[in-house]
Amino acid sequence: MQKPLVVANWKMNPLTIEAAQRLTKTVKIGLRGIKDIEVILCPSFTSLSIVKKELKGSGIKLGAQNLFWKELGAYTGEISARMLKDVGCDYVIIGHSERRQILGETNEMVNLKLKTALKAGLKPILCIGETLEERQEDKTQEVITYELISGLKDISGLTLTRLSIAYEPIWAIGSGEAAGPDEIMTARLLIQKILTGLYSSITAQKIRILYGGSVVGSNAYEFIKSVGMDGLLVGGASLNASEFINITEALIK
Ligand code: PGA
Repeated sequence: MQKPLVVANWKMNPLTIEAAQRLTKTVKIGLRGIKDIEVILCPSFTSLSIVKKELKGSGIKLGAQNLFWKELGAYTGEISARMLKDVGCDYVIIGHSERRQILGETNEMVNLKLKTALKAGLKPILCIGETLEERQEDKTQEVITYELISGLKDISGLTLTRLSIAYEPIWAIGSGEAAGPDEIMTARLLIQKILTGLYSSITAQKIRILYGGSVVGSNAYEFIKSVGMDGLLVGGASLNASEFINITEALIK
C-alpha cells in the first residue's frame, strides 16, 4: 500500500525567500522522524531552490504549483518541466481551480501539462472539482467526469501510476467549510469508477485520490481514516507550521 500523501500548496505565499526558508525549517523540525506519510511542499517558483536546500536529508519532497507544456523557448513568464526537475522537484500541481478560474486554464491546457509532466518524470497532482453554482445545480458528478476524462485524454501507460487526483470542491477552498464525508466518498467512488473504466484496475488502484478544501488539523483524520482518501492537499493551513504538522500527525493516529 502507498503511503498517504500530504501536499502543502503555499500558493503566492510567503512573500520572501527568507520567510519560505523559515517555514520549511519549522516544518522539517516538526516532522522529524515521521516515516509513514509522504510530505510534499509546493512553494512559489522563487523559493523552490532554497526550500530544496533546506529539505536536504529530511525525506520531505519538493513540488511546484504549475508548469508549461513546451520544453523551452520563447514563452515569456512560463516554466518548463526540465527547469522544475533541475531545481529538484518531484511533484507538480496541475489544473488548480485558481489557475482555471483566474488565469483561464482550460481542460485542454491541463491535458497538455499532464502529458508534459508525466513524460518528464514528474509526479503530477491533477486538481478537479465543482463550483458552488455547479453544486447547487446538481452538476458535481458531471463536472468531475468531464474534468477527469478531458484532463486524461490520450494519456496511458505505466507512468500513470505516478499520478494523483485531488478532488477539491471550489466552494470548499479557503472557505473554512470542508466538504462532508459523504460528498467526498461519492466523489472518490466516481473518480475510481472513471479511472477503472479508462485503465486496468491495477493501474487505477495505484492512482492516489486526495481531498483538498479547508483541511485543518481537526478534520484531517476523518478524511483519511473514515473516508479512505489517499492524501490531502492543504492550502491556507499549510502556511502555519504547527497546523500543518498537526494535519500530518493526525494521519498517523
Ligand atoms: P485551502 O486550499 O486548504 O486553503 O482550502 C486548498 C487548495 O487550494 O489547494
